Amino acid sequence: MLVKVKELIEEVNQFQSTNIDEIESFRIKFLGKKGILNDLFADFKNVPNEEKKEFGQYINTLKNAAQDKVNTLKESFENAKGFQLKYGDLTRPAEPIELGNRHPISLVKNQIVEIFSRIGFTVSEGPEMEDDWHNFTGLNLPEYHPARDMQDTFFLQTNPDMLLRTHTSSVQMRYMESHQPPIRTVSPGRVFRNEDISARSHCIFHQVEGLYIDTNVSFADLKQTLLYFTKEMFGKSKIRLRPSYFPFTEPSAEVDIYWGLETEVDYKITKGTGWLEIMGCGMVDPNVLKNVNIDPTKYSGFAFGMGIERIAMLLYQIPDIRMFYENDMRFLEQFKSVK
Ligand code: PHE
Repeated sequence: MLVKVKELIEEVNQFQSTNIDEIESFRIKFLGKKGILNDLFADFKNVPNEEKKEFGQYINTLKNAAQDKVNTLKESFENAKGFQLKYGDLTRPAEPIELGNRHPISLVKNQIVEIFSRIGFTVSEGPEMEDDWHNFTGLNLPEYHPARDMQDTFFLQTNPDMLLRTHTSSVQMRYMESHQPPIRTVSPGRVFRNEDISARSHCIFHQVEGLYIDTNVSFADLKQTLLYFTKEMFGKSKIRLRPSYFPFTEPSAEVDIYWGLETEVDYKITKGTGWLEIMGCGMVDPNVLKNVNIDPTKYSGFAFGMGIERIAMLLYQIPDIRMFYENDMRFLEQFKSVK
């Protein structure tokens, strides 16, 4: 008998459950009307007198143990329930974290930089706040030069010699000041012009400048480099160079790519010609080389500059330049899958 009671005590001590039905059946099994303890108390009278004392102690221990167990298990069940009401299901996985994506301007900039880096161009940068020399005068645009009016400039109120660069050509100047030929570099960056904001132009936009200086660089090298670029960037293999004018290049040209006239959009963006202007370029003017102490009798080179927004608008058929700066998530999230 005693051995059995000791085993039951052990069983009670071992019992664990977080399930309220299991706890309740445990209670009924030990403490219920027809439970083990009542049976034991009923058996008590059959126990020989000399064993009664010890036996009595053990069944009391068993009873208390069973009672305590039921109480503590019920209590922790109630606590857990409260906890769950407060915190919800703690085993559920966390909310998935939304992956961000790059801005279309960065995507296109990276693409341009990558294409040129494949043929040996490095990446360089310059300040957005420039002095007159690097943005204008050094680039063969002295004071009162009429071509200064081509780019309406934001000047700094505190220092009239300082301005927000109107083009990334200022980085050409800085790069040539600190590097000797051979030079092959592209300079992406933000530029500023005091222009009215419309669907086609903004007062802040981005350019990528290219600069190549070496011995025996010819106009054919320029054309071939740009043809490689347009093939890689747009998958278009027909370009034309139209004579143009920039003070810092001689000769200068505007680069058009043959976009085609397959769709209605093609007609619209090319104004029915099939051709699209995508950048300015030319052979670096000898005066510019002199300004940075590169000997124009020994070296020559070419430069080009393109607007990133314009290229992004063409690639992704974006109708309004302002969409780039409005930070409308519905617009930006469309570029999630673009690498
Ligand atoms: N800086 C010129 C512009 O902003 C582009 C250009 C760059 C033209 C280099 C020729 C050579 O319009």
